This record gives sequence, C-alpha cells and structure tokens, in this order.
Amino acid sequence: MSTENKNISTPKTGPLDNIGDLWNDFCQNTGFHGVNKLSGITGRHKIRLLLWTCVILSCGIYLIVRVAEEIKTYYRYPTTMTQYTKLQNEIEFPSVTVCNLNSLNKSAIKNDSRIDNYYFNTSPFRMNSNVTTNWSDPIFEQEGFYLNQTLEYVMTNHKDILDPGGFLVDANFHLSYLDVKKYFKVKLIPRGACFTSNPDLKLKTNHVGSIFHLRLMLNLDSANNYYGSSYGEGLKFRVHDSNEDPFFEGDGGGFYVEPGREVFASMRKTRFEYLPKPFEAIGNMFCRDHTNDDGSQYYRSSCIKD
Ligand SMILES: *[C@@H]1O[C@H](CO)[C@@H](O)[C@H](O)[C@H]1NC(C)=O
Ligand SMILES: *[C@@H]1O[C@H](CO)[C@@H](O)[C@H](O)[C@H]1NC(C)=O
Ligand SMILES: *[C@@H]1O[C@H](CO)[C@@H](O)[C@H](O)[C@H]1NC(C)=O
Ligand SMILES: *[C@@H]1O[C@H](CO)[C@@H](O)[C@H](O)[C@H]1NC(C)=O
Ligand SMILES: *[C@@H]1O[C@H](CO)[C@@H](O)[C@H](O)[C@H]1NC(C)=O
Repeated sequence: MSTENKNISTPKTGPLDNIGDLWNDFCQNTGFHGVNKLSGITGRHKIRLLLWTCVILSCGIYLIVRVAEEIKTYYRYPTTMTQYTKLQNEIEFPSVTVCNLNSLNKSAIKNDSRIDNYYFNTSPFRMNSNVTTNWSDPIFEQEGFYLNQTLEYVMTNHKDILDPGGFLVDANFHLSYLDVKKYFKVKLIPRGACFTSNPDLKLKTNHVGSIFHLRLMLNLDSANNYYGSSYGEGLKFRVHDSNEDPFFEGDGGGFYVEPGREVFASMRKTRFEYLPKPFEAIGNMFCRDHTNDDGSQYYRSSCIKD
C-alpha cells in the first residue's frame, strides 16, 4: 500500500481516472520485480498474465510461510548446548558434610518419660506414637525448650562434634593432620547436627586416588545413641560444592556408612550452567539469573528450591 501511495504522489504520473489506470501505473512503476508483467496496458496475452499472476502469488505465499516459520522458531527459543572437556592438573577439593545418624546424646538428655515422649514424637518412629506432647507441662520450660535455640544451646543435647572426644577424631589431607577446629565447623540441618568443611578454607589437590586425599577418623559413640534421624545407625556424608547446601533428601545424594566400616568415596565433578528465563533448565523449569538479588552467585540447588 505504501508503495502504491508513493507512486501516486510521484510527479511524473498524470491524472489517474480510474482503478484500472491506477493499477497499470502501479505495475509499471513499482520496485517489485515481475509486477509490471501483470498490467494489461500493452495488450499482452492473457495466458502470460495468468502465468505471471500464478508465479507472483506463489512466491508471495512462500515468502509469508517462511517468515511465519522463522518467527515461530524465534519464539520457541531453541537452545544451543556447548560441551567441552577441560583438563586441569590441580582442582579445588570439594566441601564434605558428615552427619551422625544418631547425633543426640542420650546421657545429656534428662531421663524423664515426658522428655522421652517429645523426642519419640520427633523421631522416624513417630508414626507409631500414641502420645502427644503436653506443652503446658512445666518440665519443658524447666528443660529450656522455650529458650532461644542458639547453636551452643542446641549442641548441649547433641554429641560433641569437633571437641576432643567428639564425633570427628582426626582429619588428614595429603598425609598431614588438619586443625579440626580450623578446617571444619558444626552445621545444624533439620534432622541433626553435622560438621562441614569450612568453605572459607579451600584445599587444592593435584593427586588422584584415596591415600592423599581427605581422610577422616570418626567416633559414632553408639553407647549414647538416642532417637536418631533415621531407623538405622551409622553416618551419612555428602561431597558437594562449597557454595551449595548439603542436600541429603531426594536427589540421590549422599553416602550412608554403617558403624565400624572404612569407606572410600570417589568423585567426579560435573559443572552445569543454566541460562536464565526464557531458557528451560531442568525439565521444563526456569532458573533465575546467575546472580541472586544480593549479588551472590547462583547455584543448581538454589534453582531446585526456586
Ligand atoms: C531412667 O529412669 C528410670 C526410672 O525413672 C530408670 O529405671 C532408668 O534406669 C533410668 N535410665 C537411665 C539411663 O538413667
Ligand atoms: C501406647 O503404646 C505403648 C506401646 O507402644 C503401650 O505400652 C501403651 O499402653 C500405649 N498407650 C495408650 C494410651 O494406648
Ligand atoms: C498437661 O500438663 C498440665 C500441667 O502439668 C496438666 O495440668 C494437664 O492436665 C496436662 N494435660 C494433659 C492432657 O495431660
Ligand atoms: C530470643 O531472641 C530474641 C531476639 O533475638 C529476643 O528478643 C528474646 O528476648 C530472646 N528470648 C530469650 C528467652 O532469650
Ligand atoms: C554425652 O553427654 C555426656 C554427659 O553430658 C558427656 O559426658 C559426654 O562427653 C557426651 N558425649 C559426647 C560424644 O559428646
């Protein structure tokens, strides 16, 4: 249409009497190839006119179909995946989080049936419980259940972790002893107390095999087992990125170790980077951009919890 208007306004064209003249004029002056073959002014053969009409119409339809396809493809946001293998002779040792499945210390907890019922009701056996916790009983206030649950306070009911005689007896890396208090810290997770290697102190390694890596000697103190976080006893541990929360449930993550066993865990590091919306990340979920609102880096587990 705009082409038509332009042609009308060009000074060369004389007065145009009717639609036929307008069409002939447009056909002769338009910049589209082939359109000038459609005008009847030179008394061309009708078959020729028909053929040209067919050619131009089919080209036009083809053009529209292709453009529509391209637009559709664009809005489907097709993904390009880049995969490459990078060999490194030194790698940052990942974080390790270890939890005793029975981290409550029986001798540190008051021997009282009401307290016992409370812990029973929070244990995996709670399905079989036929008692409810009577929170108006003064024993819960006496035993500090209403106090602020600081780490120090919560730890009084749990077995020691980093202190001498606690869960972590010793740790060594590259065959030299690590300062346990410096390299590890206590971490509470919803179902118990654990320790995790300190994310601020990064160990680097260029060795493979089990001898030179992190070796931990642990004491489960089974004699003091109370209600645990699972039906069995032993420990669970997970090797993870230091920026990632140890995420034991689901995800198939973590190793479970029976008491009295030596266990080796070999790891392979795979790093995924997901594109933000509108690209799909896991299944048909979207991830946020690579930085959180506070500017910190964005990781896979936070994507899962989004
Ligand atoms: C807990 O108290 C009961 C009686 O109230 C007693 O029979 C039992 O031996 C005590 N258990 C421990 C571990 O002290
Ligand atoms: C609750 O269950 C225990 C055994 O698990 C049983 O000894 C007790 O009698 C039951 N109490 C009630 C009120 O049913
Ligand atoms: C809960 O404890 C309070 C204070 O000991 C007592 O008066 C009340 O009867 C108890 N309730 C039940 C349901 O046992
Ligand atoms: C618990 O902490 C809050 C805020 O940190 C404080 O206002 C409150 O008084 C504390 N309660 C106790 C019992 O210490
Ligand atoms: C358990 O508690 C008792 C009594 O408070 C304490 O002597 C013992 O060291 C504790 N065990 C651990 C492993 O922390």
